[in-house]
Amino acid sequence: MQTGRSSTGNHVTSSLGPTDGARYDERFASRAAGIVSSAMRDLMALSERPDIISLAGGFPDTESFPRAIWDEVWASVTADHIASSLQYGPTEGLSELRERICEVMAHEGASARPDDIIVTTGGQQAIDLSIRTFVDPGDTVLAEGPTYPGAVPSFTTYEADVHHIPLDEDGLRVDLVEERLAHLAAAGIRPKLLYTIPNFHNPAGVTMSLERRHRLIDIAHRHELLIVEDNPYGQIRFEGEPLPTLWELDGGEGWVVYLSTFSKILAPGMRVGWVAAPQPVLRKMNLGKQAADLCSSTLAQRFVIEYMRRHDWREHVARLNDVYRGRRDAMLRALEEELPAEATWLTPAGGLFVWATLPDFVDTRDLLAQAIKNQVAFVPGRGAFVPPRGEGDPDRGAHSLRLNFSGVPEPVISEGVARLGRTVASWVELHRALGGA
Ligand SMILES: Cc1ncc(COP(=O)(O)O)c(C=O)c1O
Repeated sequence: MQTGRSSTGNHVTSSLGPTDGARYDERFASRAAGIVSSAMRDLMALSERPDIISLAGGFPDTESFPRAIWDEVWASVTADHIASSLQYGPTEGLSELRERICEVMAHEGASARPDDIIVTTGGQQAIDLSIRTFVDPGDTVLAEGPTYPGAVPSFTTYEADVHHIPLDEDGLRVDLVEERLAHLAAAGIRPKLLYTIPNFHNPAGVTMSLERRHRLIDIAHRHELLIVEDNPYGQIRFEGEPLPTLWELDGGEGWVVYLSTFSKILAPGMRVGWVAAPQPVLRKMNLGKQAADLCSSTLAQRFVIEYMRRHDWREHVARLNDVYRGRRDAMLRALEEELPAEATWLTPAGGLFVWATLPDFVDTRDLLAQAIKNQVAFVPGRGAFVPPRGEGDPDRGAHSLRLNFSGVPEPVISEGVARLGRTVASWVELHRALGGA
């Protein structure tokens, strides 16, 4: 038995010998070397510290899920489906769930058949399968800048060369997509796909306008550009009318792969999401999923089926939206009161996040260390960009931060933003004392 030192500095005993990692370094695959952790996962541990108000996670409000409904749904799973719920299931998911997923998509005006669907282990696996199915090391991928921080490890795992395209209050700058395609084509490069979150973007909170949706589909058709549409938030809407999905606007031409999840409309602990895609793509994704996990939890799938059979999921979503609208407003009020006049943010009409930008002498990665001392956490903006592989600005997102408003009650939001405000104020004061403008 030898002793080693764990990365936390505590002595550990192990029959394998020292665990300092040196022996593994030469064995790691080159792609493991380049994987970048998701900024929000790094901060997950903070959500367990009661002294810290975490505005970092993308936590839906699971407190509002009625206990009586939970008991009743599990009772029916136990009474009628215990053996099959404890069994392996088909890789593509239980057929009744795939029918229910079509119902959820139809509620957003997106038509799909059960055969167009694979159930995945959360929306996260749907992203992973999309990237692993299409991207070889070095392949070019387009994505909004900022993009979903949880997609960053998927891009880096498969060694994608990600080109971020800016967004504004109307979502992805589709005009710049066309420009970038022309630029890449001149260098003989055709991007493998464009990853986009059209509704209530994570982290930016913005929604792609109808005009841009039409234009993007037109570009996809003219340039044969595959679009991966990630839509976990389409139904988390506080005001305004739903806009058509890119999947629907594609009109069955096969240039859109659609991803979504039950995490935001039911509960992330279920880990049930899905992909809708053209048949040849689904076949490859099915093989990828076989390799990853054989099938998603049949128990969780059965829970979702029984829940949807017995209850109107739309009513639950409407209740959630009422709660979140109040929390969003509480956050916007607090930001107005607590942040310096130079700070900017947009009002999200749905989703879970506000993306704020601070004066350019504030680096939010450094600010986070100070904020944690002041017992509040957020996701620094750099985490929403893939670190550039060669040339490219390594400081993208450096002055921005993502704040979540769905996970904690209104008074806690106000207190969290007040702590953030105090942290920023002392930063600004220090900057001025050091001679900054
Ligand atoms: C844009 C986006 N895609 C995918 C996911 C992952 O969804 P899931 O929790 O179902 O894995 C999230 C979660 O926050 C998200 O914001």
